[in-house]
Amino acid sequence: MKTEILKVDPVEPENWQIGKAASFVNAGGLVVFPTETVYGIGADAFNEGACRKIFEAKGRPGDNPLIVHVSSIEMAQEVGELPQEYIDRIRRVWPSPVTFIVKANKRIPKTVTGGLGTVALRMPAHPVALALISKSGCPIAAPSANPSSKPSATNAGQAIKYFDGKVDCIIDSGRAFFGVESTVIDLDSFTILRPGPFTFDEIGNAFGQKPHISEVTRGRRLSGTAVSPGTKYAHYAPDTRMLLFERDAASLAEVIDGIEDMPPFAFIGSNESCGLLSKEAGCSTIALGSAANLYEVAKNLYDGIIALDSLKVKLGISESFDENGVGLAIMNRLRKACSGASFWDHAGLVKLLES
Ligand code: TXA
Ligand code: MG
Repeated sequence: MKTEILKVDPVEPENWQIGKAASFVNAGGLVVFPTETVYGIGADAFNEGACRKIFEAKGRPGDNPLIVHVSSIEMAQEVGELPQEYIDRIRRVWPSPVTFIVKANKRIPKTVTGGLGTVALRMPAHPVALALISKSGCPIAAPSANPSSKPSATNAGQAIKYFDGKVDCIIDSGRAFFGVESTVIDLDSFTILRPGPFTFDEIGNAFGQKPHISEVTRGRRLSGTAVSPGTKYAHYAPDTRMLLFERDAASLAEVIDGIEDMPPFAFIGSNESCGLLSKEAGCSTIALGSAANLYEVAKNLYDGIIALDSLKVKLGISESFDENGVGLAIMNRLRKACSGASFWDHAGLVKLLES
């Protein structure tokens, strides 16, 4: 398939380019487009055949439902039932990197909802995404633009690497703003299902009530020694094995010290920690940004994980970040990228290396 690549200004999208992309959506095609979080791979949400193609292009399991993107509250109401008690709050919060799970309308195909009876709805805060949805005149179902289990594309170059020849059109608007996917919140139980750039506190403030959040979603630090890797959590994962170091980066050199067959590894972490470890542990490093600005770290996170595979190392060791604010989303992604494999001390690392 020939993929048309359209350069579009991220802030002032050119009408004629958006028109071209929308015509692919209206013809039942697949369009990769930028949002403020990550790139999405989209199709007309009411066109079941088109939505099925998304699953094929991603190699996505059919029971993992898609997020439906809208450009107005009225459009959202065609897709799902926004609860009366929350509608004013939703109006105030959208557009933003937050997705609401609500009861699905019958018109929305089962392919999109996974037959759950609920639907994920989001109004993205990105001029290009909003223009594309408005111009198409239909809600756009779009998961993140990545082959299933790989890190999401946060820039057009990565989206092109993943999907050139597999979709009708890729919109190139440079980098996504946040770099991690939207916060997903189930409005029925008022529970965060996936942390994202719209933080726990921001939801609490916007809705006047604190959301629930499970310990697993929260990505709470696990104390003690190594936790065994859980392969079923593989997601956002590079081909190279990745481990999470649960302690402050400064102590890593000491933890590694004395391990005879320590494989060549790269450290993934903040600029500050990378500076320290390249000196003290002599390893290669992938710097994600300053620890003082976790938005910067989030923005560079997936590119960092993807870069690991090009370094010709046997192992990636990632730093743990503060779980406040957007840090919660970063840690949630890192734990999955590491398939839950984390260590705390020398013995924990040795055990993981032997497994
Ligand atoms: O930022 C984002 O949300 C990006 C951009 C493209 O908008 N999209 C995205 O989509 O991350 P995806 O498909 O990669 O993630 C959607 C998440 C999945 O974890 C899925 O299981 C969950 O939302 N989800 C979708 N529909 C659901 C539903 N009805 N109930 C519970 N979870 C749902
Ligand atoms: Mg995804």
